[in-house]
Amino acid sequence: MIKKIKDSAEFLRNKGFSSSDIIVVLGTGLSSIINDMEIIREIEYEDIPDFPVSTVESHSSNLIECSMHNKKINILSGRFHYYEGYDFDKIVFPLRVLMHLGCKMLILSNAAGGVNHNYRNGDVMLIEDHINLMAGNPLRGANIEELGERFPLMKDAYSLKHRKHIIEIAAKLNIDINSGVYLALQGPSLETNAEYNMARIIGGDAVGMSTVPEVIAARHMNIDVLGFSIITNINNDENRDDASHNSVIENAKMAGVKLRTILNKFIEEVDL
Ligand code: HPA
Repeated sequence: MIKKIKDSAEFLRNKGFSSSDIIVVLGTGLSSIINDMEIIREIEYEDIPDFPVSTVESHSSNLIECSMHNKKINILSGRFHYYEGYDFDKIVFPLRVLMHLGCKMLILSNAAGGVNHNYRNGDVMLIEDHINLMAGNPLRGANIEELGERFPLMKDAYSLKHRKHIIEIAAKLNIDINSGVYLALQGPSLETNAEYNMARIIGGDAVGMSTVPEVIAARHMNIDVLGFSIITNINNDENRDDASHNSVIENAKMAGVKLRTILNKFIEEVDL
């Protein structure tokens, strides 16, 4: 595995890619931020050794090097989920290659179902912590000592310093943002009512099927993380939204506008 990571990193170096200030995993709600950036170079995943390739034909996945507010940003546009059939080490491979090239922090986003009673569709949730119920972990198996330690701490997995900064920015910009716990399940079937209730009772505020493997891989390599959930469907005692409904796309767009505005300011201000 470490040889594959090094070989892919070397391949990218030869193509002109290099370390970044920030890696962004473009999940739902974040894709429009690329319009605020200057694109420097781009490559399709299928042209990079050992990168996973999407099983959905129309779906192209790209690594994009960008610049914004004098910061260098490597973007992973194209994400792989456990429910699609990829193993955890495959899911985190592109991220590990980019972290191996070098970076100072990771920003990621996802779409999630809201289980906190105070949440509304189109809300942005700053992830303050997560609960991993995916029944798997990318670090399972022999530890790769060159990447990190056997038992990495997951306390404050989501950088407190950067979270405070985001909350300050949101307040200044007058944008509502919640802080909450992301609970990850395997999917792809959506949750039963009893599972949504369980998620809330055991401490979740939002429920989804991604993000946790990447965050574990990043903390293993001691990279600071900032994560956001955009609330696309509410599921609590008062509301039972259908997560496959068209309104999900509208809600994602609504939250995406807020997230883009907050992150633009964050990238401008952050001291890395
Ligand atoms: N559950 C799991 N994942 C999701 C949901 C949900 O309700 N909404 C968006 N992603």
